[in-house]
Amino acid sequence: MNQFGKKGWTPNRIETLIGKTYVITGTTSGTGFEAAKILLSKGAKVVMLNRNSKKSENTIITLKQELGNNIDVASIQMDLSEQPSVKNAAKEVLKTVAKIDALICNAAIAQVPKQILTVDGWESQMGTNYFGNFTLQALLFPLIEKSKGRIVTVGSLGYDMGIKTIKFDDLNWNHNYTGNNAYSQSKLAQIMTIYELQDKLKEAGKTEVKAYACHPGSSRTNLISTSGSFIMKVIFGLMKLSPLTQTAEKGAYPQLMCATEPNLEQSEFYGPTGRSNWVGPVGAHKLEPHAKDKVVANKLWKLSEKETGIKWNI
Ligand SMILES: NC(=O)c1ccc[n+]([C@@H]2O[C@H](COP(=O)([O-])OP(=O)(O)OC[C@H]3O[C@@H](n4cnc5c(N)ncnc54)[C@H](OP(=O)(O)O)[C@@H]3O)[C@@H](O)[C@H]2O)c1
Repeated sequence: MNQFGKKGWTPNRIETLIGKTYVITGTTSGTGFEAAKILLSKGAKVVMLNRNSKKSENTIITLKQELGNNIDVASIQMDLSEQPSVKNAAKEVLKTVAKIDALICNAAIAQVPKQILTVDGWESQMGTNYFGNFTLQALLFPLIEKSKGRIVTVGSLGYDMGIKTIKFDDLNWNHNYTGNNAYSQSKLAQIMTIYELQDKLKEAGKTEVKAYACHPGSSRTNLISTSGSFIMKVIFGLMKLSPLTQTAEKGAYPQLMCATEPNLEQSEFYGPTGRSNWVGPVGAHKLEPHAKDKVVANKLWKLSEKETGIKWNI
């Protein structure tokens, strides 16, 4: 039984977001764009972190055309795949943004067909989707804590594909690389650190900060056309025509719910609850136990602090 009724969670539950500030990554397309639009339409201030400044400017133009010139939207350049860029963006946020009601970690790349290393030396999906977010979240944590805010990670059902654990002995997939395995590992790592963060916050008595993991199901966005192989583009192109996918707007609902819904249980995993959890009413659904494996999560956290050189001030 969905806790939000038959239709699941929808933005109709948000009355107003006037006075709230949301920092969100990857708003130039897909679920991030739709989430930013809905937050702005409810009166929130939105700070967008995007890698491409020109696309960011165009996004603001589009949002103003759709919602009017009075929306409170700002943009800061950030390439999640480069640690120096993430650090600069975090510095800029801390300098220019007074509070963060929620940091929504939405941006990602997926199904990269060949092993590529980031400038920091990590496999591209692990470096962008995982280490990029690890650093961003840690650096913004002090302001989120001060704001009694939330951290929302947009994961993927991919957490339950691939090898379903972290390949500690070959994190970069120098052996047996596949785009799907590497993507799945990066999404599992993202989700695991959210549940690990919840435990760390609880241990430290910092229960006013909340952390949530969700996913958009199977949504019609640019994800595969941006970074996937030709074959994946064909497969996802065909899938987009089937009822096994939903609009990018609906794909944005889980992250919007996690960012705004009061009294949401943190231990759950949120996404569509319909067929295969790809589509349907948004709510909590089953999470496989490997996503909460304490031994792996703890080892991953320590490794991430060592790899990034960033320590969380919890
Ligand atoms: N669509 C699905 O069915 C699906 C399924 C499972 C999970 N997800 C997750 O949903 C989230 C949103 O993806 P989407 O489907 O909306 O895809 P999308 O349409 O491709 O949007 C991804 C966004 O992330 C940005 N981005 C990519 N790499 C970046 C980087 N290095 N630095 C900063 N921003 C970067 C993109 O910017 P550019 O415009 O510059 O490329 C774009 O704004 C992702 O976390 C993805 O893993 C999606």
